Amino acid sequence: PEAGWTVEADVVVVGSGIAGLTLALRHTALDPGAKVLVVTKDVLSAGSTRWAQGGIAAVLDPEDTPAEHLSDTLIAGVGLCDEEAVRALVTEGPDALRRLMAAGARFDTDASGELQLTREGGHRRNRIVHAGGDATGAEVQRALIAAVRGAGVEVIEHALVLDLLKDAGGRTAGLTLHVMGEGTRDGVGAVRSPAVVLATGGMGQVYAATTNPLVSTGDGVALALRAGAVVRDLEFVQFHPTVLWLGEGSTGQQPLISEAVRGEGAVLVDADGVRFMQDVHELADLAPRDVVAKAIMRRMRETGADHMYLDARHFGEEKWRTRFPTIHAVCLEHGIDPVTRPIPVAPAAHYASGGVRVDLHGRTSVPGLYACGEVACTGVHGANRLASNSLLEGLVFAERIAADIHARRAPGAARPAPGEPVTDGRPTGLVDPRARTRIQGNMSRGASVLRSGESLDEVSRALLNARWTPVAVEPCTEAWETTNLLTVATALVQAARAREETRGSHWREDFPERDDARWLSHLDVTLTGEGLTMSYR
Ligand code: SIN
Repeated sequence: PEAGWTVEADVVVVGSGIAGLTLALRHTALDPGAKVLVVTKDVLSAGSTRWAQGGIAAVLDPEDTPAEHLSDTLIAGVGLCDEEAVRALVTEGPDALRRLMAAGARFDTDASGELQLTREGGHRRNRIVHAGGDATGAEVQRALIAAVRGAGVEVIEHALVLDLLKDAGGRTAGLTLHVMGEGTRDGVGAVRSPAVVLATGGMGQVYAATTNPLVSTGDGVALALRAGAVVRDLEFVQFHPTVLWLGEGSTGQQPLISEAVRGEGAVLVDADGVRFMQDVHELADLAPRDVVAKAIMRRMRETGADHMYLDARHFGEEKWRTRFPTIHAVCLEHGIDPVTRPIPVAPAAHYASGGVRVDLHGRTSVPGLYACGEVACTGVHGANRLASNSLLEGLVFAERIAADIHARRAPGAARPAPGEPVTDGRPTGLVDPRARTRIQGNMSRGASVLRSGESLDEVSRALLNARWTPVAVEPCTEAWETTNLLTVATALVQAARAREETRGSHWREDFPERDDARWLSHLDVTLTGEGLTMSYR
């Protein structure tokens, strides 16, 4: 689309969760004269960050060490983590967290004022800080919004990112946006900027049942693909084991029952009240997330049930109300009193461990384009993210990107004139928004926790059909979101089809074993005029 208006910036950040807002703050602190612009699809608070419950993992206990946090993260990632990236995460994490606190975030403390630390799956130490009991993300989002507003960072809300602009040399020159309801900047416009940071979050909405909010439609990964950037590890979608089961066929955002509930002593049981995690893993109910999700799926199959239960009746009313007020309220809203009844739970899509491939400074394969947070693949998660490492990753790598942009910015450098919007791989037409539920249903049926060559082939055929549109589609947020969902779903299915083994959160029923001889490598996906291509790294 033709840009009707143009603004200029030194850095444009797309997305307003922990990664985007930390980056904006940090860059503003490093370079107070720079114009940092945050653009976000909905309002500032609408992304995934505010829904985070468990917390932020960081080595703060004097008994704990970065080496142990590193080891737990590598074990969860099943051979595919980038050790250097994990080292940066665990060593820089504690200071990044302290800076978040200095920016205004308040975490739960004990009577002596020390931060309370809890445990989640895969962690061998108590190292998760939390706020408001189980409302960590809401507190982080509140504090960051206040800090960004206080720092005078310019924000455009209701701004859906469309495509990257590049100069004649293939360098980032800005992006195009579709803005609604923001006065003089309504309609399609362009931001001219030499540095673009994607902090657009996840893609959980490719599935029918997910913990992700409705805005998580893979916009950043789809843009990156269209811009020719490399994306990596898309097949590793993490399914959270304990999501409130709302009945057969329920769709949209589903309420999370935090791992911290198990961290505080809740146990998984089947319909007969029998525990089943003790024989599966030495950490039992606190095994890494993929192990627990698979054990739940197996037990569901063995017993013919469509959900299992999480039993935390022994917490009693007081602990439920004070330690887990959000989860307690949500259970009651759905007619389940967790003090008197076990909570019905089932796995649902939760987190994309892969994303736009970046180096240790958050740089993608397109010069000037960065990615941070869930949209990025830094290598810290490998085949399966360790609980509560994601908010930490957003913090640490946002700071690294801000430092890199600052270091590379020549003083007084002019903002670039934009080239033509990239055309390679650009969708020839927008997808009908009515295809959204079809995409989600097919992905949940054939490309979720359990996958096989056959089920993935079926999904591929269904996705091809979803592109077909009987009438011209009006450009609107829903159409762009559905186009993006289809792009990322297609890439995800292709990667999942190619990886013929079971590893971390990728579970192939037809290849049930981990195969280090063939598969201790990554799948990189790019989009060219020829379509999606895949390479092994
Ligand atoms: C949870 O609270 O269980 C979610 C934590 C996470 O996804 O890291």
